[in-house]
Amino acid sequence: MDLFEAMRGRRSCRDFLPAPVSDEVIDKILEAATWAPSPLNTQPWEFFVITNRQIREKIFTEADRCRLWAFEKSGWKWLDSYDVDFVKEAPAMIAVVGDPKKTGVDMFMEEGNMGYQAACAAAIQNMHLAAYSFGLGSLWFTLFDKKAIREILGIEDTKVPLALVCLGQRASDIREVPRRPVKDKTQYLR
Ligand SMILES: Cc1cc2nc3c(=O)[nH]c(=O)nc-3n(C[C@H](O)[C@H](O)[C@H](O)COP(=O)(O)O)c2cc1C
Repeated sequence: MDLFEAMRGRRSCRDFLPAPVSDEVIDKILEAATWAPSPLNTQPWEFFVITNRQIREKIFTEADRCRLWAFEKSGWKWLDSYDVDFVKEAPAMIAVVGDPKKTGVDMFMEEGNMGYQAACAAAIQNMHLAAYSFGLGSLWFTLFDKKAIREILGIEDTKVPLALVCLGQRASDIREVPRRPVKDKTQYLR
């Protein structure tokens, strides 16, 4: 698949069919993740592939609790009606877990500790593009309490669960999400 077509065509999916994702496809999506760049090639990521229904249910319960907490904290109306059922409906989910120690020279910088997160974000985007190339829908999901996800998945305290990538076949058509024109976002210093 043409890379630009994948970047243009991938849109977040929040509506999945129950059909399982094959191990071969999951393996390719994980391989795509590991080709992402990282500070000093530290490869600060680990992956937890979750297909077990009980674990998905636990993550859903936790995500919904976090949604309600965020609604109370922010008062943002959309959070009241935001349905996170896709967390249990997606047949596969990959937790991307980062290691803050593997952040490169960034650890000495004022803002510090961003390098490992940036690398994991690059890995996550590779996963989305790979999923799209296999005809799958995917979602970058972050509305969860890191401590709770650590407990559910058995992740050590020193590592950070940064995202859950939900994967599966789309149950509905792609919803177009617009972008602002590039020129509104760009300055040319010629
Ligand atoms: C760091 C990050 C966190 C995100 N977290 C969530 C999330 O918790 N729930 C969700 O539904 N979408 C989440 N998204 C997806 C965005 O809402 C989505 O990418 C954006 O609205 C643009 O839509 P598109 O992906 O279809 O182009 C997240 C995206 C990023 C990059």
